[in-house]
Amino acid sequence: MKPIGVFDSGVGGLTVARELFRQLPGEDIIYFGDIARVPYGIKSRETVIRFSIDNILFLLQHEVKLICVACNTVSSVALPVIRNHFKVPLVGVIAPAVREAVYATKNKRIGVIGTHGTIKSHTYETEIQHLDPEIKVFTRACPLFVPFVEEGWLKGNVVKDVAQTYLKPLKESRIDTLILGCTHYPLLKPVLQEVLGKSVVLIDSATQVAVEVKKILGTDGALNKKRRGKHKFYVSDNPGWFQELAGRFLGEKVKDVAKCIS
Ligand code: DGL
Repeated sequence: MKPIGVFDSGVGGLTVARELFRQLPGEDIIYFGDIARVPYGIKSRETVIRFSIDNILFLLQHEVKLICVACNTVSSVALPVIRNHFKVPLVGVIAPAVREAVYATKNKRIGVIGTHGTIKSHTYETEIQHLDPEIKVFTRACPLFVPFVEEGWLKGNVVKDVAQTYLKPLKESRIDTLILGCTHYPLLKPVLQEVLGKSVVLIDSATQVAVEVKKILGTDGALNKKRRGKHKFYVSDNPGWFQELAGRFLGEKVKDVAKCIS
């Protein structure tokens, strides 16, 4: 059976891959991280679209049966434009998070945090209001969170101060649900929860993305259940750096990392 492809601008998409590994243990999974061109969050829409097409074409060379777009910036900026140009199913991270958030909110006030690109695209607001026009959406770009996570700064005064500054307007807007609209943010859950208080529900789309992938493959009769799947990792630069960080995102060491040009 064919493998599943997953791609991200870098290492962060492993938060989604981890959930795919857990829920779909029989699947062969090929992960591509575009380390040479990360970050995508500050790039123009045209550039993100171009990089995304390159990454999809790379995964298609491996004859993948479905591609999971783990990157929030790609899912919100590029996917709405390129989705219908490929035959292979492309599963992004926005819709699963939105469904969960719309279900979770009681006071109809949802916050969304992400990269500059994700927030500027307004995709989250559009999708949320498409499901429930009465919901008010409050957004904020939190670009400093990505380097914090990559440096392993997941707690401490500096991270907490920055989180307090970023989240202040969302707190003042009385959100009861916050979408973590970036691959890296799930690693900051404890500090974000501390700053916002226990009553705010934090939504991380990885679990629901994997549920959706399973559903699509199940409907197509393309699920691989009988064996233990193999995982292969490709990066466009610096496999050593990827390997070093991967442990933090995946909770386990990755062995098979190859450099390629996407
Ligand atoms: N993977 C990106 C995202 O989820 C974060 C890192 C970047 O800016 O490329 O939006």
